[in-house]
Amino acid sequence: MTSADLFDLTGEVALVTGASSGLGERFAQVLAANGAKVVLAARRVDRLEALVAKIRAGGGEAIAVELDVADQPAIAPAFDAAEAAFGTVTILVNNAGIDGSSPPLDMTPEQWRNVMSVNVDGVWFCAQEVARRLAAAGRPGSIINIASVLSFRAARTLSAYATSKGAVRQMTHNLALELARYNIRVNAIAPGYILTEINRDFFATPGGQAMIKRIPQRRIAEASELDGTLLLLASSKASGYMTGSTVVVDGGHMLPAD
Ligand SMILES: NC(=O)c1ccc[n+]([C@@H]2O[C@H](COP(=O)([O-])OP(=O)(O)OC[C@H]3O[C@@H](n4cnc5c(N)ncnc54)[C@H](OP(=O)(O)O)[C@@H]3O)[C@@H](O)[C@H]2O)c1
Repeated sequence: MTSADLFDLTGEVALVTGASSGLGERFAQVLAANGAKVVLAARRVDRLEALVAKIRAGGGEAIAVELDVADQPAIAPAFDAAEAAFGTVTILVNNAGIDGSSPPLDMTPEQWRNVMSVNVDGVWFCAQEVARRLAAAGRPGSIINIASVLSFRAARTLSAYATSKGAVRQMTHNLALELARYNIRVNAIAPGYILTEINRDFFATPGGQAMIKRIPQRRIAEASELDGTLLLLASSKASGYMTGSTVVVDGGHMLPAD
């Protein structure tokens, strides 16, 4: 089998949450470029529409669907819209996320709930929705959750975020166990630091620059450096026997220091 065949996503329908910027924007383009019909979901519809136009101009197929993943009742209608356009969603990239930075003593109940609503509840209810539909249709599928190195380790002012990403990693394990019987694979990508809107301000600070120096590769990543891992997990031809894995892509950031 050639590499083009291995990662060919023709016939797949991928829904990417948080596709209006950063990693999600990149993920949507990569999936479309490899043959998937792509459903772009987020709150900023103007940005989604611009990306739809870009994907179509490149010969891909895409639609935009407005979705706030923290709004649980809005999730089923978003999948209805996806299904009406392209058929059953077979690949879900649970990418929408916020950092909600705050020292623990200052964190308000609203800040805490906001992070959990987007990063945990949103991931769970989107996964549940796609799994229900795949099971009903008797179709195999792949759920890819975007975790973080903070699924494993701690960072100052990010206790809510790290807690939420720990939950995403554990949710990935447990859903993999329970959805295997439906031929639905559930894996996660745990990126290290990649320059996007979520962290641009931080990496401009002395603390951010110091953090870069502590990464063994001494740089933060480009979003394109997740392309291979995304395609691996999306394609059942490439990773049909992978489920429950969390793939760390971090330039060595998590290696124990000597
Ligand atoms: N960048 C990194 O270094 C890094 C490292 C590890 C993990 N991650 C994870 O990667 C994912 C993407 O982050 P990013 O770096 O690409 O950040 P980003 O540029 O800030 O993008 C976040 C995306 O999430 C969407 N989003 C936020 N809240 C939402 C909601 N309630 N409903 C639907 N969409 C929502 C945003 O779209 P709208 O505002 O239009 O809704 C946006 O498209 C996140 O889960 C993040 O935790 C990032």
